[in-house]
Amino acid sequence: MKAGEQSPGSKPLTLGDLRAMRESGEPIACLTAYDSTFAVAQEAAGVDLILIGDTLGMVVQGHDSTVPVRVGDIIYHTQCVTRAVRRPWVVADMPFLSVRSPQVAVEAAGRMMQEAGARMVKLEGGESQVAVTRALADQGIPVCGHLGLQPQLVHKLGGFKVQGREAAAAQAIVDRACELEQAGADMLLLECVPNAVTQGVVAATSVPVIGIGAGPHAHGQILVMHDMLGVTAGRKPRFVKNYMAEAGGVEAAFASYVGEVKSGAYPQPTHGFG
Ligand code: KIV
Repeated sequence: MKAGEQSPGSKPLTLGDLRAMRESGEPIACLTAYDSTFAVAQEAAGVDLILIGDTLGMVVQGHDSTVPVRVGDIIYHTQCVTRAVRRPWVVADMPFLSVRSPQVAVEAAGRMMQEAGARMVKLEGGESQVAVTRALADQGIPVCGHLGLQPQLVHKLGGFKVQGREAAAAQAIVDRACELEQAGADMLLLECVPNAVTQGVVAATSVPVIGIGAGPHAHGQILVMHDMLGVTAGRKPRFVKNYMAEAGGVEAAFASYVGEVKSGAYPQPTHGFG
């Protein structure tokens, strides 16, 4: 399929569909994408959710963190994706400092929806994450709260490290997940946390929980596309599986990933932080 073509019979997924997948136990298969060609291949392979992540700062722009990414970058790459796909739920990432106040966040998220066609925004954030989520939800903007490892804090954390290993830190993640849901978040993403933290969040909340390096208990899995295609330079996180190694082609690699997420074959215990 070429950019702009639509897979036959595919209807755009809704939040209701994603909630129903949580209820029915059908894992939600998610990937990042940043352009139309890869987004089309992901849609053809059955990917349910596409995130235009601020990882584009690292895998597309060549920075060593996501910190330099700007709102305009996310808008541009989200436009490249939304022009091309129909069925997947499209989520745009709120970059560093775009959530520094509720007002700034509403403006940026509004642009992502109005100018770029995003259906949801995802946000990291410190103390203000709950207030910002409430402000976005009040405006009818679907929100995914990002918890656990928040790469935008890399310079404060001193590296990309597993979060929630100690009991107090684990409880803080579960508490924050509940606060975000109460503030109006429709989805949660957990990055690099022990499996037990994911189980705690899943038990304490009622929205779909997507994991990356968060074990098998999340309702869906996401990977950075370049990582799962095996083309990211340097050391790979332990939760990454290279789907290109055996697939022999990009679309087959995406299809293999979707199949393994749906069947529960991915992630294996070796991919997680038990
Ligand atoms: O920006 C991104 O790509 C992400 C993934 C790590 C899930 O947030």
